[in-house]
Amino acid sequence: MNKINIAKNSLKENKYTCVLFNGKKQIVSFKTGIKPLLYLTQKGTNLSGYVLADKIVGKAVALLALNLGIIEVFAETLSVSAKEILIKHNIAVSYETLTEKIINRQGTDICPMEKTVLNTFDLKKAFILLKNKVNELKSKGESVMKSLVVYYSRAGENYFGNSLKNLEVGNTKVIAEKLAKLTNSDIFEVKQVNEYSSSYNKCIEEAKRDQENDARPDLESYLDDIDEYDTIYVCYPNFWGTMPMAMFTFLEEYDFDGKTIKPLCTHEGSGMGHSESDIKKLCPNANVKKGLAIRGSNRDNCDNELKNWID
Ligand SMILES: Cc1cc2nc3c(=O)[nH]c(=O)nc-3n(C[C@H](O)[C@H](O)[C@H](O)COP(=O)(O)O)c2cc1C
Repeated sequence: MNKINIAKNSLKENKYTCVLFNGKKQIVSFKTGIKPLLYLTQKGTNLSGYVLADKIVGKAVALLALNLGIIEVFAETLSVSAKEILIKHNIAVSYETLTEKIINRQGTDICPMEKTVLNTFDLKKAFILLKNKVNELKSKGESVMKSLVVYYSRAGENYFGNSLKNLEVGNTKVIAEKLAKLTNSDIFEVKQVNEYSSSYNKCIEEAKRDQENDARPDLESYLDDIDEYDTIYVCYPNFWGTMPMAMFTFLEEYDFDGKTIKPLCTHEGSGMGHSESDIKKLCPNANVKKGLAIRGSNRDNCDNELKNWID
């Protein structure tokens, strides 16, 4: 599958607003409007050679994408002016709906970001104008923090109760999805590029080897950042007494200073293991709350436990 179709599928299969992909690494976002590309520009992230799949691409997003060196764009909704400007810069562009104008959330006028760049074709100037506009809007309204459920889970052969079963969906995934619904959180899956075997015996060897090597497996996708979240539910299975090493990769990637972390661990007998102290070491300036341990085989009967823990 080509890059843009992979990015498009990822956009469709998840609740992301924006997916960037360079053939190896995906950067995904839950932020709305121009924010993902604006903040990535501000951070100086190098996105040349990436393709972009986005919910809505108006002229503002198109100018930011060009400034970032994006080479192809898919939009669920594309504006006529965005299409023109992308084509003028030889950027391949596909879309589901073409619209004359991107309108504001109230549906009363054109989107303020589109207004901001109405008469601009200069990429650098557009970035500065948009940055100032977002700051102006931010200073007017109060920023509302959200919560995030991050989970790692493995489908395949595993002990479920006392016998080996082939699980189509991993235990932690089932519970993380319930948690995201209960807490109205965004949900992000930590997935390693080289997945562990679906065979239980092979997997326990692979996971043990990674732990002994203190490995940091590469992830298939990365969140753009965690700025908009104040509470992060970190959900994972107990693998040999702690989190899978891919969760170490994730926790080291972001700045958790001042954030609240709530760990949730599924297991088959050893509870949280030493995962909570490992999280505290990885995120020393986060407020790590007492974790919740749930037996994986109890995944369908843990709703009350979950509710009590959240409150
Ligand atoms: C590689 C591996 C190592 C495991 N190590 C432990 C362990 O040390 N203690 C424990 O109680 N359960 C252990 N388990 C069981 C899992 O923690 C448990 O089945 C969990 O619910 C699996 O979650 P998942 O289906 O989301 O991957 C291990 C399972 C695997 C595959």
